[in-house]
Amino acid sequence: MTNEAFHKKSSRRAFMLNSGILAGGAMAAPLLSKANYFSGADGTIKVALVGCGGRGTGAAMQALLSKQNVKLVAMADAFRDRLDECYKTLTADDISDYSSTVKNVKANVDVPEERKFVGFDGYLKAIPLADVIILTTPPGFRPIHFEEAIKQDKHVFMEKPVATDPAGVQRVLAAAAIAKQKKLNVVVGLQRHYQNSYRELYKRKNLIGDIISAQAWWNNDGVWVRPRQAGQTEMEYQMRNWYYFNWLCGDHINEQHIHNIDAVNWFKGGYPVKAQGQGGRQVRKGKDNGEIFDHHFVEFTYADGSILNSQCRHIPGTMSRVDELLVGTKGKIHCGAGSISDAKGKSLYQFDSKLENNPYQTEHDELFAAIAKGEYKFADAENGARSTMTSILGRMATYSGQIVEWDKAINSGIDIHPKVYAWDAPPPILPNADGFYPVAVPGVTKYV
Ligand SMILES: NC(=O)c1ccc[n+]([C@@H]2O[C@H](COP(=O)([O-])OP(=O)(O)OC[C@H]3O[C@@H](n4cnc5c(N)ncnc54)[C@H](O)[C@@H]3O)[C@@H](O)[C@H]2O)c1
Repeated sequence: MTNEAFHKKSSRRAFMLNSGILAGGAMAAPLLSKANYFSGADGTIKVALVGCGGRGTGAAMQALLSKQNVKLVAMADAFRDRLDECYKTLTADDISDYSSTVKNVKANVDVPEERKFVGFDGYLKAIPLADVIILTTPPGFRPIHFEEAIKQDKHVFMEKPVATDPAGVQRVLAAAAIAKQKKLNVVVGLQRHYQNSYRELYKRKNLIGDIISAQAWWNNDGVWVRPRQAGQTEMEYQMRNWYYFNWLCGDHINEQHIHNIDAVNWFKGGYPVKAQGQGGRQVRKGKDNGEIFDHHFVEFTYADGSILNSQCRHIPGTMSRVDELLVGTKGKIHCGAGSISDAKGKSLYQFDSKLENNPYQTEHDELFAAIAKGEYKFADAENGARSTMTSILGRMATYSGQIVEWDKAINSGIDIHPKVYAWDAPPPILPNADGFYPVAVPGVTKYV
């Protein structure tokens, strides 16, 4: 669907968002046939984990802590050491959840050697063994993994972002439509949709009238670097140090700032029609920093003319802020503060921080409760794909320095992935003789 057609449907969408269909809240919950939701003769919901890194370990733990009868039965990772580290953590006597509470989930980890799969095709072997698939690899692989999980009739928890290029977004949108037809629950890890403060603010958004502008920030020091090791092929190096390569990560505007951009899309009830912006790399420009920028500032324009000013920066020693502010005709919502005020600054609502939850746990509690009851409640993939497209649109704008229109970008067919996934295959971007990668130059670079 073009964005124009999408916006024509916006009043229906606003209703859908209000009713939580795309936003992860409760919706009418048709009961599924038992065969369609879990296969365990004893009512066990079987889970396969694809991508056993930091978030995969956390997500698997949260699935196992979800109060349903859940078992982890298969694990897949590109690398043996990552899989082993994750297995060791999940089978330890005590592990901490996000609230630092010590828990033990090892009784529900049932992954013998024959259900541990390593390499690029591990997902194909793990997916058939489970009812629910957790997809937590770098986002570049999400489209092919999600497509396969839906093809095999599985419910899905998948992390954001859900792609790194427009072709990937289209694949996720197509699979999302099939997931809806098949009534497969899909939760995307845009956890603000599952966070009490955001949910309470969202319920009260009409207090500020129509949203006419917004600001979103993901400014902090940045993330890890995994330096090149002797003996690595170029493919292995990029897979290990994935944050710095667009085919895997999509740049930090996609990988992290998507949370804030998505929150604004959610409250707006739509997606931008165009973007323009600026960015570059000031500080993070070593050989191990691949091709991504360290700062972006994007002006997104929505169909009604309202603007989102979005900024993200990964530069140590600068102001840190991860937050969103929505400005309406009658007042403001400050998401980070959990507050709503009128146009003169008078408080209209303050969320009680004592009521805040751990949204990472809530995502799994709600998903697995629905599956256990045979309910179809979650269809997050379409919004996940469109918010991913929004952050990719921002990247296209900062890399090119041009105005980039949504419809052209999403339909551009741009695909930045390798032709072949193999350890000795060439990745789509290669270093020069000095070990540096090509970096976008605004004014010169076309849509990438
Ligand atoms: N919602 C959140 O707040 C949040 C927080 C952290 C991470 N994440 C997301 O989770 C995802 C993973 O991030 P992470 O921090 O866990 O990274 P990570 O590097 O710790 O883990 C990624 C894992 O995927 C594996 N992998 C890579 N390609 C694979 C493939 N083709 N098949 C199987 N395994 C493969 C890697 O070897 C690694 O073990 C990212 O999309 C990230 O944005 C979300």
